[in-house]
Amino acid sequence: VLKQSHPQTAGHVFMPGTVVEINNGIVTMTNELFTDAEIADMFTNKWAYFENQRATRQAELVAEKASRAPVPADLFEQVKAWWEPLMKRAPILCDGIGALVRFTIGDDDLVADFPKGEVRRYSDEACRYWFTIPADLVATNLRDHEIDWSNSIFLSVRFTAGRIGKFNEYLYTFMKCLSEQRIDYVENWYSEQSDTGEDVRIDDWLVQRRCPHLRADLSKTGTVEDGVLTCSLHDWKFDLASGRCLTSQGHEIRASKI
Ligand code: FES
Repeated sequence: VLKQSHPQTAGHVFMPGTVVEINNGIVTMTNELFTDAEIADMFTNKWAYFENQRATRQAELVAEKASRAPVPADLFEQVKAWWEPLMKRAPILCDGIGALVRFTIGDDDLVADFPKGEVRRYSDEACRYWFTIPADLVATNLRDHEIDWSNSIFLSVRFTAGRIGKFNEYLYTFMKCLSEQRIDYVENWYSEQSDTGEDVRIDDWLVQRRCPHLRADLSKTGTVEDGVLTCSLHDWKFDLASGRCLTSQGHEIRASKI
């Protein structure tokens, strides 16, 4: 259909095993898992292909289900202890979500109140977004400390969801950034959108406001000792006179002595 309506556009089908090489604008594609005949067969005999998958891959499904964690009695407390500190670190993200989100997880019914940065038990509140997720999937993520619930739960389509109003990009971003490092990166990225190469004064140095590592606000995280700036978020160090990063390759900093 794409080819007919936009003949000048080249569409490509990427699938497991596809290797794409781009050389001077020329795209070549090969597949290491399937022959051309097998791929053509998948698309022309779809139901037979699915039936064959179902018949031959039952053991994998059984093994995957058996690998899931038992549901802990303190599931609610674990989610609360994990998410609340992340919410506190991410005021812009929480502001972007700006609503109550209900999670029904097996017998647990909880609300993530992003404006207040709080996770609590659900009590008949009006929520803008809601999810129902099998408890063993959440239990497995808790056991494995899986920081990306978008990949592990939402892409599995083993959940139901609803919302009032538009899709909220911030909410799905939160669900895939469930670690301090990821949430800091995203929060700093959002904050940087309104930051235009600004400098801040730290002691008798003028330095760029955003840390060259993951863009922390150096007016809050930076300290200078003997001409070396340390960003407390991950303890990276920078020699201010030369601008050189002492912790990693590259990552130069803009700084001048006042
Ligand atoms: S943001 Fe990581 S050290 Fe500054």
